[in-house]
Amino acid sequence: MEPVGTIQWVGKGVTQEAFEELTLLGHTMMEEIEHIQECGGCAECGTCRVRVLSGTLTPPTHEERELLAEYPNEFRPDERLGCQVRPLGNCILELPKEEPEDLRFID
Ligand code: FES
Repeated sequence: MEPVGTIQWVGKGVTQEAFEELTLLGHTMMEEIEHIQECGGCAECGTCRVRVLSGTLTPPTHEERELLAEYPNEFRPDERLGCQVRPLGNCILELPKEEPEDLRFID
C-alpha cells in the first residue's frame, strides 16, 4: 500500500499515513486509538462516526447513504461513518467527545 497523505487525529496527538485501501476505522485500529464500532463495521449503528474537519474522502457507500437517510437528525453535516469511508488525501479528523448512541436501539 502506498500512502495518499496523512491523517491527523485532533485531540489524540496522532498523525499517521493515510491509505486509500483502509477505512478510517482501520486506520484508528492500526494506531490503537479507541474507536467505538458497536455493529462491527456493518453501517448499522452509527457509533463509529468521525467528524471531518478537512480533507478528501471517498463518497458515501450505499450502506452509509442508507443509514444517514434513515436517521437524518442524528448526524452532523460533517460526520461520516468511520467503518465505511476511506481517505483520498490529507485529512484532519476528530472522534466524538462523547460516545454516540447506537442507532439500532433508539426509538
Ligand atoms: S461500526 Fe456500526 S456503523 Fe460503523
